[in-house]
Amino acid sequence: ILAQLTQQPPDALLALIKLYSADERGDKIDLGVGVYRTDDGATPVFTSIKKAEQALVDKQDSKAYLGPEGDMGFVEALKPIIFGKDFAKIDSIDGMQTPGGTGGVRLAVALAKAAGVTKVWMGTPSWPNHAQILKDVGVAAGSFNHATADGTADMAALREAIAGAAPTDAILLHGCCHNPTGIDYSLAEWEEITALLKDKGILPILDLAYQGLGDGLEEDAAGVRMVLEAVPEALIAYSCDKNFGLYRDRVGAIYMMGEGADCLPCIASNGASLARANWSMPPDHGAAAVRTILSDAALTTEWKEELESMRTRINQVRAKLAEAGVAGSVDLKPLATQRGLFAILPLSKEQIQKLREDHAIYMAGSGRINIAGLTMGNIDKFIAAVAEVSA
Ligand code: LMR
Repeated sequence: ILAQLTQQPPDALLALIKLYSADERGDKIDLGVGVYRTDDGATPVFTSIKKAEQALVDKQDSKAYLGPEGDMGFVEALKPIIFGKDFAKIDSIDGMQTPGGTGGVRLAVALAKAAGVTKVWMGTPSWPNHAQILKDVGVAAGSFNHATADGTADMAALREAIAGAAPTDAILLHGCCHNPTGIDYSLAEWEEITALLKDKGILPILDLAYQGLGDGLEEDAAGVRMVLEAVPEALIAYSCDKNFGLYRDRVGAIYMMGEGADCLPCIASNGASLARANWSMPPDHGAAAVRTILSDAALTTEWKEELESMRTRINQVRAKLAEAGVAGSVDLKPLATQRGLFAILPLSKEQIQKLREDHAIYMAGSGRINIAGLTMGNIDKFIAAVAEVSA
């Protein structure tokens, strides 16, 4: 029976990791998968995480199962970071730990489907795994254009999609640091989106995977909080993979907001049973390290400082790219106002291939670059290479 399977292509983004490693050129530049890099090109473990891990080694007395909801101390400790210290509807929100933000998105979509959602709208381009998850879970995908040619959000397309949505549809929105475009909604745009969602009554699924990498922890959650204050129900997928640098440890969560505290046990019971059938229980270690940080004031301060230095560097690289103005036919100026790890450059497949073959510069086939792969040491080479291939 297994011989009936047809060959599947490798995930294009993850395949880039291997291609890059195999390249022996000394001046190669990795702008592929979304991991933060320092100005030396390293992706170090946060010092706050190292200290938390040491505390776990010293003090953790058991690795016995916790259950499908994972580490609820972790889930609770994140709440003030995500929703704010004084969020009025906090009693209407329950959460569960998931394997990475991907687990959070998957569980959110599966939960929405179990509740009767048949179609999920999303702006395109989006993180390619969003569409794969919708397909695998078995809900239809509705799409609308996310970005205009001038590098801002395509609000007309979003308005039209929401207006045309059926009451049983859901909509998947990026909370901040849009992946792959870096084009976020302004506060005024979030206000409009909030009003539209409230009016239409469709279920928002909010994917917050890069909190703190845009403008700040509070600023990056502002849109999500605005929506949650106004609508009766929502699902939030959260990732700690980037803002705690825990990528391979797979640390995420889903938060479920219902119409009042009374409906939470039922919603959460569905989340738990779907998790049980999917991965049974999430991996503990990374979430325990996050909990350890967030329950210690000094470690929390240290983590926030580390996050701030990442954010500052990302935005410095953005500013430097924008300063260059244009590189060949590519306008780099909008990158200054976009946010997060990613931006899309309007390059053809051939130009992207040329960058790889002639200049050892690796980026996704969509033209997405990971801003953090650029350093003060390689940025000029990058700009010159883009200028050359797009001239
Ligand atoms: C990315 O988009 O590069 C990251 O979210 C990593 C991934 O899993 O795709």
